[in-house]
Amino acid sequence: MSVEPHRDRAALEAADHHLIRYGGTFLPFVADRAEGSFVYDSGGRAILDFTSGQMSAILGHSHPEIVDVVTETIARLDHLFSGMLSRPVIELGEALGNLAPGLSKVLLLSTGAESNEAALRMARLVTGGWEVVGFSQSWHGMTGAAASATYSGMFQSSRQPQILWTKRPRMAAPWRVCVTSG
Ligand SMILES: Cc1ncc(COP(=O)(O)O)c(C=O)c1O
Repeated sequence: MSVEPHRDRAALEAADHHLIRYGGTFLPFVADRAEGSFVYDSGGRAILDFTSGQMSAILGHSHPEIVDVVTETIARLDHLFSGMLSRPVIELGEALGNLAPGLSKVLLLSTGAESNEAALRMARLVTGGWEVVGFSQSWHGMTGAAASATYSGMFQSSRQPQILWTKRPRMAAPWRVCVTSG
């Protein structure tokens, strides 16, 4: 195993030319694989991953049980329109909904930012209010409302609301298929 960082120069240069990241720069290595608590670069260097409290990383990268479930599931049902139900989704909703008394319903989303968007909308719906307190150094994600509540990094200097107010002209949608039950 090499001790020095393995710099995949061509890949890092390509990343520099073609990838955008808001809120900071990419780390100067190319991750090749990950296992347990470590990420490995293309030279085989093991990097202890202190960054990931997100997704399955909290259980260790490439946890064998998660790999099995994902592999089996993607071969059976890889992606559905969000209006369609599948048994794993219903069962996950049921399991999560039974965890917290009085909170039996679950809104399944993909990212932290989406979850915070939903939380902000729900709070506005329930309270009828519109102001949000965002702590200094907070990070809530890069979508409109989540970024508006974020007071960290590049947002620190801006005191302006970040959400864009857009006009919404009516659009015809002749391609929409009407699915009725019964
Ligand atoms: C505390 C916190 N909230 C929200 C987010 C946004 O999550 P995501 O990047 O999945 O949208 C992050 C991501 O780092 C986070 O650390």
